[in-house]
Amino acid sequence: MRRLISSGSPFEAAGGYSRAVVDGEWVFVAGTTGFDYAAMTISDDPAEQTRQAPDLRSAAADYTTHCAVCHGTAGRGDGPAAKGLTPPPADLTDADRMGQHSVFGL
Ligand code: HEC
Repeated sequence: MRRLISSGSPFEAAGGYSRAVVDGEWVFVAGTTGFDYAAMTISDDPAEQTRQAPDLRSAAADYTTHCAVCHGTAGRGDGPAAKGLTPPPADLTDADRMGQHSVFGL
């Protein structure tokens, strides 16, 4: 099943693309801008912009450190700190709910 993920940018409608397309087990990401959010700037040099694209290599460790305590190691909302929370932590494996979000809007 193919699913389009929008960043909410007006450029997507104007340019006819999605920030990401989920197709089966694959996620195709397009249109990363290389915006430097620390400095709130973007380079005029495309090569420099690619170096500023988000680096997702640390994502798994970040999730374990900051999110798993509530969302669980597999993302099902069943971490040890989830007990008694109202509302309960979201099930991050719920594709319908998560499909409503942009990866840039988390
Ligand atoms: C202290 C517990 C706790 C931690 C830690 C936590 N969350 Fe959550 N998260 C929740 C709860 C509770 C909800 C449900 C909120 C709701 O339904 O209004 C939630 C909801 C979400 C949602 C769904 C939002 C939506 O509107 O559908 C996402 C995505 C999410 N969390 C991601 C993360 C990420 C990524 C981290 C780590 C960087 C994280 N959470 C850390 C408790 C937590």
